[in-house]
Amino acid sequence: MWPCERLATIDSTQRELLRRLTSAPSQHQNPFGLWTTAQTQGIGSHGRQWIDSQGGLAMSLGWPELLTPQPAAPDPAWPLRLSLAVIQTLEEYFQLTDAMLGVKWPNDIMARGSKLGGVLVSRHQIQGRWWLIAGIGINFSWPSPPDINRPVIALEDLGVSQAPSESIVMALSTAVEGLYQHAERDNAKAWVDEFHRRDLYANQRVVVIHPVSGEPLAAGRNCGVIHSGALRLEIDGAERLIEVGELSLRGDRAA
Ligand code: BTN
Repeated sequence: MWPCERLATIDSTQRELLRRLTSAPSQHQNPFGLWTTAQTQGIGSHGRQWIDSQGGLAMSLGWPELLTPQPAAPDPAWPLRLSLAVIQTLEEYFQLTDAMLGVKWPNDIMARGSKLGGVLVSRHQIQGRWWLIAGIGINFSWPSPPDINRPVIALEDLGVSQAPSESIVMALSTAVEGLYQHAERDNAKAWVDEFHRRDLYANQRVVVIHPVSGEPLAAGRNCGVIHSGALRLEIDGAERLIEVGELSLRGDRAA
C-alpha cells in the first residue's frame, strides 16, 4: 500500500508533493501520497483555481513512471481512467447506490447532474526521472454555494455524514495503485465502454468549449471516447476526435 501522509492544512497537495520531490529527489524512490481536508489554494484543470468545499478531501498521489522507453508525453487517458476509479471507489465505500455518480469528459466527477469533484494529472521530470502526480478533489459540504459558474454538489448532499478520513484515502490510494499496476495490461475496451456508460452527456448534443477562454470550439453528438482519451464527436454525420476541451450542453460554462 502506498503511504499517504495527512497534512493539517496546505496550500495545495499537488504543489506540496511536487515541492517534496524537487527539494529532496533522492529521498523519494517510491510512490507516496499527501492528503488534507483543509486545502487553501487548490489547483484545478488548466491552471484554474480549485475551490475546496468545507472539509473536502484533497489528495495527491505521486509515482515514478516505470514504462520503458519512457513516452514523450503522459498518457492522456489517465484522467478518464482515474475519474472512473474514483467514482467506483466512492460508490463502494459510501454505498452510494442511488446517487447516480458519473463522469463528464475529460475529468469531472459528477453526481445528480452537478460537479462532486475533479481529478488532475500532471507529469514532471525530476533528476531525469518522470513522475506522475494524480490529484483528487472531492466536495464534502457546501454551507453556502461557491461563486462559480456551474452547479456543484457535495458528499453531504448525497447523505454521507462521515467526514473524509484515513480509510477513504486508503481505498482511493489502493484504486490508483491498481490502475498503475495494470496500466499496460488493461483492456482499453472495458474502461472505454464504462466511461460511456457513466458519461452524463453520453449520446447528447454537446458543445466543446475552450478550457480557458470558454469559446465554443465544436458542436456535435457525444459518441464516447477512444483508448487515448480523445472524445468522439459526430458532426454532420462524420466522426471527429477531440483531444482538448470541456463539455457543455449549451455552449457556456454553466452546463
Ligand atoms: C478540476 O476539476 O479542475 C480538477 C480539480 C483537482 C483538485 C485536486 S484537490 C487535490 C489536488 N491538489 C490540488 O491543488 N488540486 C488537486
